[in-house]
Amino acid sequence: MTIYLNGQYMPIEDAKISVLDRGFIFGDGVYEVIPVYSRRAFRLAEHLRRLQHSLDGIKLANPHSDAEWTAIIKELVKRNPGEDQYLYLHITRGVAKRDHAFPIPPVKPTVFLMSNPLPTPPSELLLSGVGAVSAEDNRWLRCDIKAIALLPNVLLRQLAVDAGCAETILIRENEFMTEGAASNIFVVRHGKLLAPPKDNLMLPGITYDVILEIAAANGIPCEIRRVMKEELFSADELLLTSSTKEVLAITRLDGKPVGNGKPGPMFARLHSLYQEYKHNVMRK
Ligand code: PDD
Repeated sequence: MTIYLNGQYMPIEDAKISVLDRGFIFGDGVYEVIPVYSRRAFRLAEHLRRLQHSLDGIKLANPHSDAEWTAIIKELVKRNPGEDQYLYLHITRGVAKRDHAFPIPPVKPTVFLMSNPLPTPPSELLLSGVGAVSAEDNRWLRCDIKAIALLPNVLLRQLAVDAGCAETILIRENEFMTEGAASNIFVVRHGKLLAPPKDNLMLPGITYDVILEIAAANGIPCEIRRVMKEELFSADELLLTSSTKEVLAITRLDGKPVGNGKPGPMFARLHSLYQEYKHNVMRK
């Protein structure tokens, strides 16, 4: 695998960073995950806009213009195998003597990108759906920043893995749902799609936006508002979205079936519309 590190393309085995990198010491950095279909980055402008939002959130100057990012990404995708890839982009505040405060004068940020084959869900999972568990959302109050400091997300996601499930659905203040540990969550009740608002308590998912656009374009009723815990637990269907998972049905929550325990009609419709959209936008 060829990666990009601070202006150079190299085999991943040759990539080295300092132990004083603030990403390593403090988790002081942000990242993006961008799916690549037919060697073209999906919704690149939107991913770069969200990257800028994350950088603004941590007060770090963007080391590259959108044109420079586009060129780096194009070159990296070209140098790696596979028509469909998943691109990981990571920026930290750079290497400095250990001190919580930002280095003065600022140092060069560390810029790292890699691209792996895209592991979209196998057809068995699309047919069966996946299991999820619920847990209290104990993360910080800037979940809109795609921060590399993911320890809370790691611990929350592990709860799902330990229970033989795919995702942990997060609930704030024992009252309302925010998102998954590494995905956005939609609740379906009475034929309507319920989506939490893009506020500071969730990551504004790029796939989340695609789903809402597709729903609006196809007359699927949606409500964007706080989704209460009771609505989550009495859902007819639950959907999970992310750049790597696309759209998946959650068919078990905390060991109990969601609806009839099978992927429902809203999942079938949105999954097929998503595939159609992807094909029309990316593959033609
Ligand atoms: N995670 N919420 C959280 C906490 C996430 O980590 C992700 C994605 C999403 C979905 O966002 P998008 O649709 O833009 O992928 C929501 C990525 C895939 C990851 O960390 O690997």
